[in-house]
Amino acid sequence: MNYSIKSGTPEKQRVGCVIVGVYEHRKLSPAAEAIDRASDGVLRAALQHGDLDGKSGQTLLLHCASKVLCKRVLLVGLGRERDFDESAYRKACTAAIRALRSTGARDAHSYLTHLEVKNRNLHWNVRQAVWAAQNELYRFNACHGTGSKEKLPDLNLKRLFFDVPHHSNLPVAERALTEACAINAGATLAKNLGNLPGNICTPTYLAQQARLLARQHKGIRCKVLEQKDMEKLGMGALLSVARGSRQPPKLIVLEYRHGTRDQKPVALVGKGLTFDAGGISLKPADKMDEMKFDMCGGAAVLGAFKAIAELKLPLNLVGVIPCSENLPDGQANKPGDIVTSMAGITIEVLNTDAEGRLILCDALTYVEKHYAPSVCVDIATLTGACVVALGGHASGLFSNTPTLARALLEAGDETGDRAWQLPLWEDYQPMLKSEHADVANVSGGRDAGAITAACFLHRFTRKMKWAHLDVAGTAWKGKRATGRPVPLLTQYLIKTSSEKPAKRNDAH
Ligand code: BES
Ligand code: MN
Ligand code: ZN
Repeated sequence: MNYSIKSGTPEKQRVGCVIVGVYEHRKLSPAAEAIDRASDGVLRAALQHGDLDGKSGQTLLLHCASKVLCKRVLLVGLGRERDFDESAYRKACTAAIRALRSTGARDAHSYLTHLEVKNRNLHWNVRQAVWAAQNELYRFNACHGTGSKEKLPDLNLKRLFFDVPHHSNLPVAERALTEACAINAGATLAKNLGNLPGNICTPTYLAQQARLLARQHKGIRCKVLEQKDMEKLGMGALLSVARGSRQPPKLIVLEYRHGTRDQKPVALVGKGLTFDAGGISLKPADKMDEMKFDMCGGAAVLGAFKAIAELKLPLNLVGVIPCSENLPDGQANKPGDIVTSMAGITIEVLNTDAEGRLILCDALTYVEKHYAPSVCVDIATLTGACVVALGGHASGLFSNTPTLARALLEAGDETGDRAWQLPLWEDYQPMLKSEHADVANVSGGRDAGAITAACFLHRFTRKMKWAHLDVAGTAWKGKRATGRPVPLLTQYLIKTSSEKPAKRNDAH
């Protein structure tokens, strides 16, 4: 989709469709009012006939409104004006695109961006409109056969304009659009990788995709550590998970250097478990297919790299993605096995299904030793317990650094890709006590499962300013990857890189 920003009056747009809002009880928004006036009351007449009341999410398509230059006018219900909030705005944006999908309109000009949303500004409106459009337009059909592909209807809509009230708004809106498109590109990459099945998206495939990303963006460099490299580094925890699979493990390392030389990098670490059957502690069959999404943390790191490379953000960034499958096999981890991590900490693997923390702990140690990052954020579909606690709306956030936690929470709030902080208190650490090793990979019971997982990781990140995002509930919805938390991560990086204006100038 081609998105652009414009500023002009609704009745003068020569496009396939003009999109305007109507509040509940048929109250026209200013843009709708303008079209109505120019067309001698065509909108009011349609509303009076009872075709649309303005309830949130309703749409009504009108053809050939006379005296206006567009071919169609799409009325979008906004709900009650005084209740018009963030979610009502997103709902309206989504409903508009959904209604347009099935029309012949090739281009459309939206005035929804003019609408006043409580506590939000034009920059936010544009970003959210683009995010909503992209999500509504996204289809994953890479795995449909040639026959069924032909049956999919072509999308006529090629170009979307978002209007701003004044010419003076153009720079802010353009900036918002640029950021939104970069976030969309990153999230789309994350979705595409997430949606691929485990037999296609293997560790080797993810490594190839990382190399491809580095080839597509000059700023990104990629290297991939192989099993023998990991053996040399002593990554006994990661390798123990990979032993249960015929697919060789990979440790993807991405570097992006666009900050000053002396600037410590921000590190992102993403769980790249391309299929999680649980290992010898085998998962039940129900919904096991969804464990192809267990690499979504890793995909989000790739997505964030794509977004920041497109924006050419002035910062140094490193990404590390440990990739493996978790399957039952003669060589697989067995409950009670004890492995030695790269940090030298021995781990008793009481449950082979708690494999995410095993591959992450070595990746985190690698990042700490090789990059000494300014901050480190890991992203993982780590626990079912996090889904129980927060459902699908918020990612779980844990951090040993309050300022970092706050910055991530704010980035989530700004983008609507929200996180909610859970405690990382030392009080929980004894739950990971092991009889025979330094630490157990699970606690005895089911209490506080998301927290004990974070506490496990914390044993390997004490020396860093670190945060952990548990995206088990947010990385996919139903059977579809969401691209989360690419918006949160990218927003955090946009903010961080702009907060050091002196260094920013040095870099260019
Ligand atoms: N990838 C899963 C977590 C998961 C489960 C995400 C369900 C989304 C939905 C992870 O590897 C796992 O299996 N975790 C276990 C940990 C337990 C054994 C302590 C879990 O959550 O059941
Ligand atoms: Mn598991
Ligand atoms: Zn897993």
